Amino acid sequence: MYLSVIGSGYVGTTIAVCFAELGHDVVNVDIDQETVETLNGGEAPIHEDGLADLVAEHAGPNGTGRLRATTDYEAILETEATFLCLPTPQRDDGSIDLSIMRAGAASLGETLAAKDDRHTVIVKSTVIPRSTTDTIAPTVADAAGKTIGADLGVGMNPEFLREGSAVRDFLNPDKVVLGADDEQTRDVMAAVFEPLVERAGNPAVVETDTKTAEMIKYANNGFLATKISLINDIGNVCKEFGIDAYEVADAIGLDDRIGEQFLRSGLGWGGSCFPKDTNAIIAAAKAEGYDPTMLEAAVEVNEHQPKRLLELLDAHVDVAGKRVAVLGLAFKPGTDDVRNSRAVPVIERLAARGAEIVAYDPVAMENMRALDPDADIAYADSAADALDRANACVVVTDWDAFATLDEEFERMAEQVVVDGRRVVEPRRGMTYEGLTW
Ligand code: UDX
Repeated sequence: MYLSVIGSGYVGTTIAVCFAELGHDVVNVDIDQETVETLNGGEAPIHEDGLADLVAEHAGPNGTGRLRATTDYEAILETEATFLCLPTPQRDDGSIDLSIMRAGAASLGETLAAKDDRHTVIVKSTVIPRSTTDTIAPTVADAAGKTIGADLGVGMNPEFLREGSAVRDFLNPDKVVLGADDEQTRDVMAAVFEPLVERAGNPAVVETDTKTAEMIKYANNGFLATKISLINDIGNVCKEFGIDAYEVADAIGLDDRIGEQFLRSGLGWGGSCFPKDTNAIIAAAKAEGYDPTMLEAAVEVNEHQPKRLLELLDAHVDVAGKRVAVLGLAFKPGTDDVRNSRAVPVIERLAARGAEIVAYDPVAMENMRALDPDADIAYADSAADALDRANACVVVTDWDAFATLDEEFERMAEQVVVDGRRVVEPRRGMTYEGLTW
């Protein structure tokens, strides 16, 4: 099939490249000239494991030619279906901001006015239930002068890609959710995903309506975020009793009904999805007149974790005027993304206590500097440099490399290490997440 993908963020780029890998012809449309040129040069505009190789294989002068990028919406006219992969940020009150989606839908509709054949639009971005039917579909239809269901099909296909393993997650899904309100649209979506379903060994294909597909995404993320907050809540109780929360988590994870994943207690969740999506579904539920108590509690526990980490630190050292090493700035290992990273509230709290902050992250330092150029943070060249003469250390991100810093910890001025991710093995003389000496 010939597909178009609007947006070249990490979702848009990943799916455009992966669809080319699956044998489709793909044009990626984005307003950013630089991104377009990068992709057309055969290079990946973002860092995702495995992405660069696939871009080189399918785009650029030496590629298969199945993938190209353009800033010109007209290119969409040649394609059968368009994936909308635009950002859905949150407003100050936590609710979803659909303005970028609306603008993209309007531009798409204006372009489609020149197309005679039926066209299928598939919303990939995470949007609040009913947004596809109430906002996006009518915006495209009005601008195109088309009738939904007749010469325009609009579907919803949520993504479950994790940053850092987006390509792997796309090519090996545990489920493919196809949301459509008419059969023709669902058939087109099924055809798009047929090669993926075949290649991935028949994962579950969930066929449903658009609003259910939209809700599945929020339920998925909300459940996982709540699972982490619940183990954090339990972990906090464990700490009061001097019990190792990780030993407890390992045991309960053996119960199939609970499962071993997402039971790592610590500083809590961050990133571009969990915080935004949880806030958005809470705001949307409230607007409908329902207070989602559990989801609100999940957010509250998450907000409290950095505060608890600092309390643990306070119990061992007064950091005012002292050198504190912050190990890890990314919201999780394997990415340079610092959006909603727990490093931000940790650093804010350290600064408020008058600590001299020296931070190290293998890849995220540049992004942290860009996020807050005025922050009083010294950036170290290595974890060893950050720990040199430090009076205390807080581990914020569970990078593997932080697990083997034994000698460097020994050389600290005062060995107070609060491990917010349980990446370092417990030992006497230090303070760790999960267990306190
Ligand atoms: C998430 C979802 O997993 C993905 O399906 C969705 O499409 C986008 O959002 P991502 O934000 O890339 O993906 O990160 P993920 O690996 O899910 O981790 C989210 C946060 O939870 C991170 O800050 C991580 O450190 C934290 N986490 C995860 C824990 O604190 N404990 C755990 O046990 C697991």
